[in-house]
Amino acid sequence: MKKINIGLIGFGNVGSGVIKILNERKAFLSAKIGIDINIKKICDKDISSKRKIKIDKALLTRDPKAIIEDPQIDIVVELMGGIHPAKEYISQALAKGKNIVTANKALLAQEGRVLLALARDRGKNIYFEASVGAGIPIIKSLREGLVANKFSSVFGILNGTSNYVLSQMSSFSCSFNEALQEAKAEGFAEKDPTLDIEGIDSAHKLVLLTYLCFGKLVSMDDIFTEGISRISLADVNYAKEMGFEIKLLSIAKKESGELEVRVHPTLIPDTHLLSTVSGIFNAIYVSSDLAGDLVFYGPGAGQSCAASAVVSDLVDLTNDIKAGLFRSTLDTVEDKSIKKLRKIDEIESRYYIRFMAKDQPGILAKIAGVLAKFKISIATVAQKERKKAQFVPIVMIIHEAKEKNLRAALKVIDNLNIIDENSVAIRIEEL
Ligand SMILES: NC(=O)c1ccc[n+]([C@@H]2O[C@H](COP(=O)([O-])OP(=O)(O)OC[C@H]3O[C@@H](n4cnc5c(N)ncnc54)[C@H](OP(=O)(O)O)[C@@H]3O)[C@@H](O)[C@H]2O)c1
Repeated sequence: MKKINIGLIGFGNVGSGVIKILNERKAFLSAKIGIDINIKKICDKDISSKRKIKIDKALLTRDPKAIIEDPQIDIVVELMGGIHPAKEYISQALAKGKNIVTANKALLAQEGRVLLALARDRGKNIYFEASVGAGIPIIKSLREGLVANKFSSVFGILNGTSNYVLSQMSSFSCSFNEALQEAKAEGFAEKDPTLDIEGIDSAHKLVLLTYLCFGKLVSMDDIFTEGISRISLADVNYAKEMGFEIKLLSIAKKESGELEVRVHPTLIPDTHLLSTVSGIFNAIYVSSDLAGDLVFYGPGAGQSCAASAVVSDLVDLTNDIKAGLFRSTLDTVEDKSIKKLRKIDEIESRYYIRFMAKDQPGILAKIAGVLAKFKISIATVAQKERKKAQFVPIVMIIHEAKEKNLRAALKVIDNLNIIDENSVAIRIEEL
């Protein structure tokens, strides 16, 4: 049987998972594809610590060149994470004529333009299934299963840590900090969870989904990104009373020739499938013109899930090499109907708003008056408590309004002496 040699850089959580699958399912996989996927070298900074899987020590090296410069290695699997030196290693490997598999969404979001162009120039490919939704085969589905479709929107719950925190707040009425501590204790949040909680990881993944759905490689600066750290338990509960769940949503949406790309906490009707996605699970809701609306759902992180996706890429690349095919990763076709990216100021949305206002007669009329000046009309409003002469929450849903009008109105309202703290405004998506 023919064999394909692979070299792995990054023998950590996912890397170990990949080696485990390739070892334990060697016969199973080669029976399926007719080629033996052979692990030729494994590189990591640390090759002395004991790992949970058995491995021939002769395969281990600290020197990435032992992989990048080995002419017998066909595919380099980058699972070390981070931008540098991962970018340099991938560039050097492409230059040496190797195909690449990576799970590194941060790298692709930041340096994808350079790396994908380099791959195309070299006639090589970069596969990245594990970089969005771990084991959920969303990238393959968008590229292959839905190849004939044009897309109007993609909405994703793409970060397990944030979703776990919001789910805990909603289900167990705990504060943001309590939920985050629990996520850390359960191993669902990093020691420093900034990338997850502030929406940056979700934005990295949205860059890739936008590229696959609309053929546009947007930059991180193009994506309006707001995390969940300002979401309070009060807002989660008030939203619930009004029939909504709050989710950190990644959105790429085409409307009137413009594309919106944004990540932020969003109220979703509790009747929608995405509102039921809880804990560390991910879901991606895609609207396509031929196949209709589709939901992809599953665990969005974890060793075996991510490794499953990496092995799927390895099998695809092996099949490509076997067939002598070069399928460019740049085979997305730009949606020319999109004339520009819509700035966050220009988006129109319904909003949930909470003011902390003095409990006295005429307050609501004052707030409504300012909103009306900015052409914003109220759909529903409720005062949540009664505490004479103190500040109480006033919660409202407003009809569709332009973001910049709403922000301008809130600036005026927040400066009134009847208002205690900055108001909270959360966008609503009807999906
Ligand atoms: N974990 C998941 O569920 C998941 C899911 C989807 C995608 N991903 C992506 O998969 C990638 C790997 O994630 P992971 O969770 O496996 O991370 P990890 O456990 O930290 O593994 C990375 C490994 O690479 C090593 N490494 C770092 N820099 C290196 C270098 N310059 N040369 C050689 N080895 C180096 C690390 O060593 P040290 O520890 O000594 O630095 C570590 O052993 C990341 O891009 C991540 O975003 C992860």
